[in-house]
Amino acid sequence: MHVGVKSWWTVPAEEPEHALPAAAGQAGLVSQLRPLVRELSEPGELVLDPFAGWGTTLVACSVEGRRGIGFEVNPERAKEAGRRLASYPGQEMRCGDARALPLEADSVDLVLCDLPYFGTGLDTDSADPGQLYALREYDVYLDALDEAFTRIAQVMRPGAHAVIAVQNRRIEGAFVPLAWDAARVLSRRLTLGDERIHLYERPVGGDDPMVSNRAHEYLLMATKR
Ligand SMILES: C[S@@+](CC[C@H](N)C(=O)[O-])C[C@H]1O[C@@H](n2cnc3c(N)ncnc32)[C@H](O)[C@@H]1O
Repeated sequence: MHVGVKSWWTVPAEEPEHALPAAAGQAGLVSQLRPLVRELSEPGELVLDPFAGWGTTLVACSVEGRRGIGFEVNPERAKEAGRRLASYPGQEMRCGDARALPLEADSVDLVLCDLPYFGTGLDTDSADPGQLYALREYDVYLDALDEAFTRIAQVMRPGAHAVIAVQNRRIEGAFVPLAWDAARVLSRRLTLGDERIHLYERPVGGDDPMVSNRAHEYLLMATKR
């Protein structure tokens, strides 16, 4: 897929006019998403973020003249994103579960998202059964990802690309290869094309190599054949 684009990239600072300091560390950056939107979709096309969070993907879509639709399972976060998007035309933000997307089959031209990571401690008290953050068993979490990827693949048109951002993790001192496991699960539903690596210029905590010093993220690049 897209041979000629470098496999790694140091993400520039957020564009100040689109910054959302309240979600720093949890939300993506418009500055890292805009080039992907331009590379992998055409103006006017439909871009889906099934784990839309604060709506950052949709902000990038608006700036680049794409129609974005986002689903976020946390109702307060979905509302917050909706408020943020009020000044970004052409975008639709809904509260919903990525595993049950109410979209037509073969209707989406590009999928762009950050996964809700396993073991973050975020949304742990969520009463919503759809909240992937709240899952405590890794296998159950991977099964839920599989359900989401199954539905996402159904709504993508043949030939459409998906870009899934995910990191490996350290959880309670153990290395958890979340990015690699997510790639394996994704490959059941879509054809993996490549990986990209986004590098972040941010300070890393401490100098113990066994404590996370992670300042990079994998982008799993896949296509619906
Ligand atoms: C890493 S955040 C996404 C941030 C987003 N990329 C942004 O920049 O604003 C992942 C989001 O997925 C949401 N989520 C978790 N389970 C979900 C599900 N089953 N369906 C939809 N969203 C879900 C979480 O509540 C969280 O807001």
